[in-house]
Amino acid sequence: MNINSVKFIKSSATLKQCPPAGLPEFAFIGRSNVGKSSLINMLTGRKGLAKVSGTPGKTRLINHFLVNDSWYIVDLPGYGFAKISREERTRLAGMIEEYLLNRRTVKLIFLLVDSRLEPQKSDLDFIAGLFRLDLPFLILLTKSDKLTRNELSRNTGKYQETLEGYFSRCPVLIPCSSRTGFGKERILGETEELLKEM
Ligand code: GTP
Ligand code: MG
Repeated sequence: MNINSVKFIKSSATLKQCPPAGLPEFAFIGRSNVGKSSLINMLTGRKGLAKVSGTPGKTRLINHFLVNDSWYIVDLPGYGFAKISREERTRLAGMIEEYLLNRRTVKLIFLLVDSRLEPQKSDLDFIAGLFRLDLPFLILLTKSDKLTRNELSRNTGKYQETLEGYFSRCPVLIPCSSRTGFGKERILGETEELLKEM
């Protein structure tokens, strides 16, 4: 799929503040610092579009980006970040939940996890919630450039085994890297398939 135009539309602190629902949306979610904003920049080929930082907790609002004047990419704050205040963490969790539960135009949730790590408790809890709510999602294993090909395939296999063990099923897993562009075609391909169905 070609991305011809991308426009930042707005940052919202509540569901009410989000742009009027209508166009299909693809949401990017995952633990703080996992690489959501970087991945959005990689996919769109716009380096400074979403704000990136080495310090976890950079994205604190729901950010809508309009792609090809016809669908949205949504950059969400991370969950599970321990170093922000309890109130702020509760606020962010509430905001993410309100958005995912009520925004009917979300076609697919891209859940990002770090390809270097074993499944983390906060990720497994989040995945359990997505299954329970029957929300459409797949998993992106980020920062694959930090692993050798063998390590990546071992970790991807382990991830699949763990999820099948916990939930007796596993969503599609796509390894990717914002550094190298690895995974871009597959991720945009999944998006394009769903857009075609509309
Ligand atoms: P929050 O907004 O804080 O939740 O973080 P985020 O998930 O949006 O992560 P962000 O894109 O800001 O990236 C966090 C850090 O990881 C930055 O230092 C990035 O440069 C780094 N990073 C992101 N993606 C990759 C990747 O694919 N490879 C490598 N090596 N580093 C990455
Ligand atoms: Mg971010």
